Amino acid sequence: MRIAVVGTGYVGLVTGTCFADSGNAVTCIDINADKVARLKRGEIPIYEPGLEDLVTRNARAGRLHFTTDTAAAVANAEIVFLAVGTPPAADGSADLSALWSVVDSIAPHLHPDAVVVTKSTVPVGTCAGIERRLLERTGRQCRVASNPEFLKEGAAIDDFQKPDRVVVGVRSADVGERLRSLYAPFLRTENPFLVMSPESSEMTKYVANALLATKISFINEVANLCERMEADIDDVRRGIGHDSRIGFAFLFPGAGYGGSCFPKDVQALASMARDKGVPPRILSAVHDTNLAQKQVLGEKVAQHFGGRLAGRPIAIWGLAFKPRTDDVRDAPAIDLIERLLAADARLTVFDPEAMPNVQAIYGDRIRYAAGPMEALDGAECLVIVTEWGDFRRPDFDDMARRMKNCVIIDGRNLYSSADMRARGFTYLAIGKQPVLAPTVGGS
Ligand SMILES: NC(=O)c1ccc[n+]([C@@H]2O[C@H](COP(=O)([O-])OP(=O)(O)OC[C@H]3O[C@@H](n4cnc5c(N)ncnc54)[C@H](O)[C@@H]3O)[C@@H](O)[C@H]2O)c1
Repeated sequence: MRIAVVGTGYVGLVTGTCFADSGNAVTCIDINADKVARLKRGEIPIYEPGLEDLVTRNARAGRLHFTTDTAAAVANAEIVFLAVGTPPAADGSADLSALWSVVDSIAPHLHPDAVVVTKSTVPVGTCAGIERRLLERTGRQCRVASNPEFLKEGAAIDDFQKPDRVVVGVRSADVGERLRSLYAPFLRTENPFLVMSPESSEMTKYVANALLATKISFINEVANLCERMEADIDDVRRGIGHDSRIGFAFLFPGAGYGGSCFPKDVQALASMARDKGVPPRILSAVHDTNLAQKQVLGEKVAQHFGGRLAGRPIAIWGLAFKPRTDDVRDAPAIDLIERLLAADARLTVFDPEAMPNVQAIYGDRIRYAAGPMEALDGAECLVIVTEWGDFRRPDFDDMARRMKNCVIIDGRNLYSSADMRARGFTYLAIGKQPVLAPTVGGS
């Protein structure tokens, strides 16, 4: 099939590349000319494991093209995917300005047989709105479908090529069949291809993310309670997870959820609920709990040092909102950096992939270490924000030699409290009893 993907970000680039890899002729379009130029040179503007090889292979095979020329790319396409950003507006609703601008720009060039498909996460009713807008602009009833994306950054290729399910929202069976045929190579293990209305499909994406965010905020709230009840969240997690009605997935306490999806999607669903007169009580609590959780690491640092942070050398491991990505949008590390900089702490940070994105925000206000161990030299405290594999089994003896104080504040519960105690570290994790080394303290 001939496919155009408008918006070549985390979702658009993965979508376009994976469809090219299954034999389609794909053109990825972006208004960011610099991004397109880099892609044409074979440079991948984001970090996503496996993506570079796949882009290179399909571009070389002539199946994958990049352009800023929307008109030419769309004119021939049988399917046009819309994959532009839908960030939060000031009131929490989804800002669809990029999407509408794309709809206006593709309208005059759409092939009469083309199907326009929303891959972006869009509020319920957006497909219907696109149908109306295309009717106004083209004078004909265009076919519009919803096909939300469930990939996870850091595992995006695998998620796209082996999806748990594919959801499409369509108004006619033939559009459903066209999309079923496009996805057939990815569903050979009989995972379901679910066909529903565009409204249910649009809703499905928000509900999926909102429920996952709810699990995270729930476990974070009870983790904070565990700390004050002399309980250990990891024991409690094991205690509940074996119940088949509960399970273990997405019940790890941490520094709060971030990224470009959960925070904005929870708020957008709440905004839709308010518009329809349904009070979003749970969604509001999930969001507020998360905002508070993103402050927990900063609070633990401040508390440990009795509020005296000015000039204090502090190391941070992990900046991306989760491992295996360079994405720092809404990342808990950003909240931590803001708070520590406001208190005049001296920060040295390390992340395997996300440092350029943080450097673009903070420049030389913080220091960027060449490796995790280098970040620790002279530090009075290490704060772990992202659970990169590299941080799971460090050389604790080397850490102890490099750090001024052996203090770890762990936002991802990577280490065993008993082990930390035996090694003489002060270890403050989430939802666990503090391990306080007798010789170091909050001076
Ligand atoms: N990132 C994820 O993990 C993920 C997962 C599932 C769904 N989504 C959804 O997918 C959508 C895209 O997310 P993303 O993370 O890929 O965003 P992104 O910011 O990485 O990419 C969006 C791209 O669209 C381009 N763009 C903006 N306006 C344009 C226009 N008029 N014409 C052409 N290109 C234009 C931007 O330059 C950018 O490259 C969002 O709605 C998001 O909620 C994201």
